[in-house]
Amino acid sequence: MRQLEGKTAIVTGGSRGLGRAIAVRLAQGGAQIAIFDLKREWAQKTADLIENAGGKAIALGCDVSDGEAMTLAFEQTTECLGGLDILVNNAMWNRYEPIADITSETVQRMTGVGFSAVVWGIQEAAPIMQERGGGAIINIASVSAQLGLNNGLVYCGIKAGVTGLTRAAAVELGPHSIRVNAVSPSTVATEGVQKMLTAEKIADREGRTPLKRLGQPEDIANAVAFLGSDDAAFITGQVLTVDGGLANAFL
Ligand SMILES: NC(=O)c1ccc[n+]([C@@H]2O[C@H](COP(=O)([O-])OP(=O)(O)OC[C@H]3O[C@@H](n4cnc5c(N)ncnc54)[C@H](O)[C@@H]3O)[C@@H](O)[C@H]2O)c1
Repeated sequence: MRQLEGKTAIVTGGSRGLGRAIAVRLAQGGAQIAIFDLKREWAQKTADLIENAGGKAIALGCDVSDGEAMTLAFEQTTECLGGLDILVNNAMWNRYEPIADITSETVQRMTGVGFSAVVWGIQEAAPIMQERGGGAIINIASVSAQLGLNNGLVYCGIKAGVTGLTRAAAVELGPHSIRVNAVSPSTVATEGVQKMLTAEKIADREGRTPLKRLGQPEDIANAVAFLGSDDAAFITGQVLTVDGGLANAFL
């Protein structure tokens, strides 16, 4: 469990859902954590959870789609925590809607948080990690990068883009011992998903999943902790699907 002792990690969008579970799991692994979210007070709740359990965490208010805000937040993190070993690009803003209803504002906001922010995060993290002799970047994609999702035109496109940039970043940053991987979850039982999906829809997804359940936030967090650890020292440019077998089930 303590395979991340001595490491420092940033988790974007870490105030709820998967981001919170990832931040808590990395802290349980021994890492100190910086949580970035739109509002500092939201991120602080996760930092408090970690600190109350004996870990070290700081909370930063940062719109991750804004490159200048990211520069500042990375500077504050390295100043407060002394470096950076792991970056988890997790934040997302979603809207699922029919193709005809998609507006330019929606495309801009979704791509800003889901794609541009991943680019800014990698751009900020790479020189810091390079100076430290290496690091690990984990981007949160989705099985919807591989599978079509009704009303998910923009979302599926962004997540497919994230898997592509993961491979390109792995190639470019490998010589600096910076590993870049993605984790691709299927539906995870977060508060948001439970509010958005009816009980009937949840039962249907569970039924179509070979392991007969939705993912739990901890399932995803464990995969991220593995990829962030030295146990994954020779793994880069991979997309680890964590979906209970869903993407392989034809019927
Ligand atoms: N929950 C699932 O079923 C599921 C499945 C596959 C992939 N994913 C992916 O996992 C990640 C987390 O999903 P989730 O369900 O926990 O999402 P969520 O909506 O519950 O949380 C997203 C977090 O990102 C933050 N955020 C949004 N815009 C931001 C911005 N501009 N700057 C900083 N922070 C911002 C939100 O405040 C929130 O804390 C996302 O990348 C999502 O696409 C989720």
